[in-house]
Amino acid sequence: PPLNSLVNLYDFEKLASKILSNQAWAYYSSGAEDEISYRENHSAYRRIFFKPRILVDVSKVDTNTEMLGSKTDVPFYVSATALCKLGNPREGEKDIARGCGQGSTKVPQMISTLASCSVDEIVEAAPSKDQIEWYQVYVNSDRKITKDMIKHVEKLGIKALFVTVDAPSLGRREKDLKIKFLGSDQGAKVMKENPEIVNQDKNDNDSEPANGASRALSKFIDPSLTWNDIMEMRKWTKLPIVIKGVQRVEDVVKAAEVGVNGVVLSNHGGRQLDYSRPPIELLAEAMPILKEKQLDDKLELYVDGGIRRGTDVLKALCLGAKGVGLGRPFLYANSCYGKDGVQRAIEMLTEELEMSMRLLGVTSIKDLSSDLLDLTNLKGR
Ligand code: FNR
Repeated sequence: PPLNSLVNLYDFEKLASKILSNQAWAYYSSGAEDEISYRENHSAYRRIFFKPRILVDVSKVDTNTEMLGSKTDVPFYVSATALCKLGNPREGEKDIARGCGQGSTKVPQMISTLASCSVDEIVEAAPSKDQIEWYQVYVNSDRKITKDMIKHVEKLGIKALFVTVDAPSLGRREKDLKIKFLGSDQGAKVMKENPEIVNQDKNDNDSEPANGASRALSKFIDPSLTWNDIMEMRKWTKLPIVIKGVQRVEDVVKAAEVGVNGVVLSNHGGRQLDYSRPPIELLAEAMPILKEKQLDDKLELYVDGGIRRGTDVLKALCLGAKGVGLGRPFLYANSCYGKDGVQRAIEMLTEELEMSMRLLGVTSIKDLSSDLLDLTNLKGR
């Protein structure tokens, strides 16, 4: 169908479910085990309601903000997703870079350690040199590989590092496990072209691609990573460091205390520990505690998982998030329409955001606060 016949982000998902290969759909769409967290990520937003202000002059609304020291047009970004070539075999992550930079609204892109194009290619594909590119780090058991990579991406002009900590072992994504990944030419091809992202430990059966895409990819990730490593990394680089995958208030507090620049409250889109709580709930709980401890200006809070609407973005920002990330919607948009799909997805979300701000009675991001929300039912699972 023509791109302009799609009206919201769910339309990309519906289309992707029809046109993607079984392998790509299984890998992209799956959550862990019974997919309870995956579903709750969405449901939690549906338990939050607005208390709009009326009779405010909203003839002009401004979605500009700042994330990790960079000015941005909107308070959202494309979160890291592995293997974009499964859905867009020719251009993969390069088309995400183009889609993020070619329209009038520009959006930061977080590049995965498991990207199917090299970081160099992706940065090169970005339409402008000023485009905000972030790098997601899976810390390798061989620390030198990670340290060298950080030096390398610094030189490429990457503006922040997101260290993912919710995947010491990859979650059981059963849709993905049921598909024998190697049976797919497409999957095998992406893996063959990217030998560095497949487990180096040849003796470990669990790393066989036949056990599902996710397992085959994950084995280099160091399960022994601790807070000490994060503090060590702080010495390696001057780039902002954000911990991605924080799932309890105590760890948000700890992150503020160890001096990282931010955290992403995330359960990896429901793909890791099933029954981990929806991040928006955690945000609602964490913010008042950070304020009480006077730690709220020590770090920036981000949230991802289940965000599909302008109203979802607003809810997270009212609760104190600096910005929000989206994973699957951009994977689907990129798979269905390449760079133009990514650009259109950004426009859709921006249009929804602007309209919802107007209807909420706010004209700028800094006016958003929790008194615009009714949270009575948030925990009413
Ligand atoms: C991811 N995510 C992810 N995160 C990360 O830090 N490194 C990675 O390589 C990946 N890979 C990946 C692949 C796929 C197919 C998905 C769906 C997700 C998690 C991602 O960054 C983000 O946390 C979630 O996708 C957010 O949830 P939504 O927006 O997909 O609901």
